[in-house]
Amino acid sequence: MSLETLANVLAEAEKKNYAVGAFNANNLEIVQAIVGAAEKQNSPVIVQASQGAIKYAGLEQITAMVRTAAMAASVPVVLHLDHGTDFDQVMRCICAGFTSVMIDASAFLLEENIARVRKVVEVARAVGVSVEAELGRISGTEEHVSVSKKEAFFTDPDEATRFVEETGVDALAVSIGTAHGPYKGEPKLDLERLAKIKAQVTVPIVLHGASGVPDAAIRAAIQRGVRKINIDTDLRQTFTARMREVMAEKPSEYDPRKILGPAREVLQQAVEKKMVLFGSSGQA
Ligand code: G3H
Ligand code: 13P
Ligand code: ZN
Repeated sequence: MSLETLANVLAEAEKKNYAVGAFNANNLEIVQAIVGAAEKQNSPVIVQASQGAIKYAGLEQITAMVRTAAMAASVPVVLHLDHGTDFDQVMRCICAGFTSVMIDASAFLLEENIARVRKVVEVARAVGVSVEAELGRISGTEEHVSVSKKEAFFTDPDEATRFVEETGVDALAVSIGTAHGPYKGEPKLDLERLAKIKAQVTVPIVLHGASGVPDAAIRAAIQRGVRKINIDTDLRQTFTARMREVMAEKPSEYDPRKILGPAREVLQQAVEKKMVLFGSSGQA
């Protein structure tokens, strides 16, 4: 199938109350594991590349890898830019063939965030590309931010309503207690806030920093309207742990395929498990 847009894939998820996994990809093996999992689970999937991933793999290469995998697949695959921070980067991705982009202007005050997102939406809409934006701030687990400060960054439901209306975004990333990277303790999600946002906004809600969030909390978030779930750290840990294991078991192995192949296998299994948890399995 040709690449699908985020708006179309999430519209289906909204109808049937499940979430679609958005998995970060940086290389061939990760792309193959993610799309392979989607095929096996008959699930829609979002493959996302961060600016760091694009720098590492090259814009043309990462686009070609995902597009080629999608064309050979029988399930909907979205190619999405994760945390695009500037207009030019977003435009380059649209020109390269991404079917969805995130413009992350959450570091700016509300008015400036709205202005930056609206500018991207105007162009993206004209060429049929979906747009995700973030309101509130999702920190990194490594940032030493106090709980009260973290809560000050949480998404305000009334601001969310205004943000969606004034920008015309297709999906809204919210800050409700998750963070990027590995958690030290157990993350606590503000589910009440999530339910309020859901009741007030008309577009699908996105949960970032979902690695390490307990399954029960993920299910509760989906019940309250989360439709796109971003996972990176869990994948990195799974992939790298298997590489380390193989290298420890066979210290004289020098064929990268013998190390990356087993890592790709366990990564696919991990992605499949997430698809079952998110309820997207069997929905393609
Ligand atoms: O949210 C960020 C993603 O985990 C991507 O991370 O910028 O290191 O590629 P990265
Ligand atoms: P994690 O690495 O914490 O899973 O976060 C992924 C993410 O939000 C990508 O945008
Ligand atoms: Zn994120």
